[in-house]
Amino acid sequence: MSHPRSYAAEDIDVQYDVRRCIHAAECVHGAPSVFDPNRKPWVDPTQGDSDLIAKVVTRCPTGALHFTRKDGGAEEVPEETNTVLIQPDGPLHVRGDIRVETAEGEILLTDTRVALCRCGLSKNKPFCDNAHQENFKDAAALGAVNVIEASGETSSLTILAATDGPLLLNGPVSISSAESEEITTEKCALCRCGHSSNKPFCDGTHKDIGFESSTA
Ligand code: SF4
Ligand code: FES
Repeated sequence: MSHPRSYAAEDIDVQYDVRRCIHAAECVHGAPSVFDPNRKPWVDPTQGDSDLIAKVVTRCPTGALHFTRKDGGAEEVPEETNTVLIQPDGPLHVRGDIRVETAEGEILLTDTRVALCRCGLSKNKPFCDNAHQENFKDAAALGAVNVIEASGETSSLTILAATDGPLLLNGPVSISSAESEEITTEKCALCRCGHSSNKPFCDGTHKDIGFESSTA
């Protein structure tokens, strides 16, 4: 699914995957001389300090940006706690030690940051491609769920994108709403068809509406 391009400087390389960029523009605000959409190439790591570039890249909520240090500086490490932030009218922003896989066990991605589609409309499922902007309205409140306490056996978060069904989360995770309500759990199913009445959790509606997760 990934087609990252790499941009080099002496002290740091920056990788950019256009398919995962939803133009949150954290990068443009954080380091405008490095990330300039009006320039070609729009990423130029020679135009900034490597520590600043690394800091700005890790703010990219979708994982479209990554970096590789060549100057001995610290590489990105996953945040200690896995988190899902529900974006109002938008995707699920996940951070931590994340693995996304298909129902068949194919690993689609291992990453520290990812934006997952929850409107059902992305053409790059399970990843967000900004399709929610067309017609998805949800205030990002936290619905009810049976909380399963963390066993402490694992620290990573596996997200299985069920065929024609929800995102099945397995691993310790803290899920937050736009209003900063929060639950922690170790297993839950998050809606990705856009139609659950108990968002962000799946309530089985995907079956009634005939949700198809294939993007072909
Ligand atoms: S911060 Fe990431 S998602 Fe946002 S515009 Fe930059 S590259 Fe794209
Ligand atoms: S994926 Fe939306 S209700 Fe199950």
